[in-house]
Amino acid sequence: PSVASSSSRLSVPVDEAFEFPRNRLTVQETIGEGAFGIVKRAIAYGIGRVPKATQVAVKSLREDVTYQDQYEFMKEAEVMKSVKRMGSHINIVNFLGCCTQGAGPLYVIVEYAKKGNLRNYLMSFRSQENSLVTWREDLELCMLSSGNTLDGNYDKDTLSQRMLLSFSHQVARGMEFLASHKCIHRDLAARNILVTEDNVLKIADFGLARNGEYYKKKSRGQIPVKWMPPEALFDMKYTEKSDVWSYGVLMWEIFTLGGMPYPTIPQEDLYGKLMEGYRMEKPPFATDSLYDTMRRCWNHYPDDRPDFSLLVLIMERQLVRVA
Ligand code: ADE
Repeated sequence: PSVASSSSRLSVPVDEAFEFPRNRLTVQETIGEGAFGIVKRAIAYGIGRVPKATQVAVKSLREDVTYQDQYEFMKEAEVMKSVKRMGSHINIVNFLGCCTQGAGPLYVIVEYAKKGNLRNYLMSFRSQENSLVTWREDLELCMLSSGNTLDGNYDKDTLSQRMLLSFSHQVARGMEFLASHKCIHRDLAARNILVTEDNVLKIADFGLARNGEYYKKKSRGQIPVKWMPPEALFDMKYTEKSDVWSYGVLMWEIFTLGGMPYPTIPQEDLYGKLMEGYRMEKPPFATDSLYDTMRRCWNHYPDDRPDFSLLVLIMERQLVRVA
């Protein structure tokens, strides 16, 4: 495909329902970057029928991308729009509008999440040195390291087991919504969940096109082998139940505070190990029954895995227990 210079941009028909005027958008610093895309923070005036300034995130493409990339980018926007037409959900990154007309880059405007992605957020609770992370009696997760005592004043948040459970619950809720609208994520992982200022979790990147080259080329995540079930690894079969497997891996990431799955297994050996029945161990911060839930998500046969509605109920039952 040819390279589109800034003067040769893909022409996109206007969609009045979602078009947002560029002059009501003040674009600010870059908050995320990939091989093709850039995400910037912005202020939008009067978006979503509210007559005020709202912090938003705007996604755009790099200058030197191909027509094919522009096309894929618009396809992602179309998926987000079609989900949006069916309603919003607090646990997804909702689409707010786009700028496709006039001079300037194609912009897709989505909700902003101040605390960034869940993996980095969880890792920020690990302490730097060889420290001990332990549960206190009140189930607060505390970081013990030199110069950082239990009674110290933390200027950052403290994590609790309840919060980790709430994270698992919120992701299950967002996925239940997406699954009910026949949206299969295909790359559910902590790196693709965003955290707002109020610790609301939002599933991101559910609109990405994942067939073919575009996805493979992305330096951001190649193929996320360690989040994929056998049927997706072996014959690219993606369903709600393959997202459920990934959800099990995501729970494991949550309860290891952003651990890397299967750290000692090379990607190319994973399929064989899974077929032999190998599964990850119980993370230190998970209870036996949470680990049991992970193992159910990792059942070999998709039909033997719970669906997201059941996972929501399971998480609610667990939340009541630690209330
Ligand atoms: N990085 C990527 N997308 C983002 C968003 N919507 N909010 C904050 N950071 C992001």
